[in-house]
Amino acid sequence: MDQPMRMKNNGQISIVLNSQKRTSIRDTLRTEAIPQTFPLEHMALKEIEEELGSLVGMEEMKKMVKEIYAWIYVNKKREAMGLKAGKQALHMMFKGNPGTGKTTVARIIGKLFLKMNVLSKGHLIEAERADLVGEYIGHTAQKTRDLIKKALGGILFIDEAYSLGRGGEKDFGKEAIDTLVKHMEDKQHDFILILAGYSREMEHFLTLNPGLQSRFPLVFHFPDYSVDQLMEIGKRMLDEKEYILSHDAERKIREHLHIAKTSLSPMAFSNGRYVRNVLEKSIRAQAMRLLMENCYNRHDLLTIRSNDLNFSKGNSE
Ligand SMILES: Nc1ncnc2c1ncn2[C@@H]1O[C@H](COP(=O)(O)OP(=O)(O)OP(=O)(O)O)[C@@H](O)[C@H]1O
Ligand SMILES: [Mg+2]
Repeated sequence: MDQPMRMKNNGQISIVLNSQKRTSIRDTLRTEAIPQTFPLEHMALKEIEEELGSLVGMEEMKKMVKEIYAWIYVNKKREAMGLKAGKQALHMMFKGNPGTGKTTVARIIGKLFLKMNVLSKGHLIEAERADLVGEYIGHTAQKTRDLIKKALGGILFIDEAYSLGRGGEKDFGKEAIDTLVKHMEDKQHDFILILAGYSREMEHFLTLNPGLQSRFPLVFHFPDYSVDQLMEIGKRMLDEKEYILSHDAERKIREHLHIAKTSLSPMAFSNGRYVRNVLEKSIRAQAMRLLMENCYNRHDLLTIRSNDLNFSKGNSE
């Protein structure tokens, strides 16, 4: 029953699947001498690796997702052999500061669980306090139930979940928590609930209902990114849009990220989103510059220069 929780500290499964970065399944196969049917059966795992590979860092999360894959797969095999198969809810808690990739990962997990037949639809319903909490007695339970209904077959992702517990005893947020707790038990194999929020607030949130802690067997921590990681995230974003940074632009962004990271409070610095906003702004500035210069050769069209970067304000949103 509590197997997946243990998996986190249990090296056995991870030794096989936690192949070093980007080691393909084929490589694993060669070294492990697993029968030829392995790759076809594990196409989902290969796709998972590719999808996760597009994310910078997050090693712990990547490892855990692969372990969950292995666990589900092995359980099916056990079932087929008439052995006990662990049935464990896969509800999760994501703790981390703004822009650390929580929504992005929730979306990927939805897709992966669809491929693994854990979810029938794999869609993501993003919700926040106002989507759950109503205005009169009974309204909240109804709203919460409706939301869960929409999420069936997929993921219900509740951002800033701790805000449900903010109002104290008389607040309807408590009713939303109770309804969630009830349904995550009754319908535990029909949808996955992911609660997300800042670490400290989420710790406090867990104390509000005695049943909460044990119902979230999977807890992921999303650490703030280093400047190097933020630069890598930025480069991947630009690469996807077919832009490059000039040397000066790269240096300027790097210096700015150092300053932003240290001068803004951890909750105000929005990590990956901050980088995205800076770059999107610079793309618009580059377009304006090219228009003024009336210069459209391939290299100009590709390159973001240092004077396209403006860090004045509005980047942290
Ligand atoms: N590890 C990563 N690799 C590549 N891009 C990333 C990574 N983490 C975040 N990003 C990018 O940063 C942006 C913000 O990410 P996301 O919206 O998932 O963060 P979040 O944790 O949900 O933020 P919030 O708590 O404010 O809702 C997105 O554009 C996402 O693509
Ligand atoms: Mg988010």
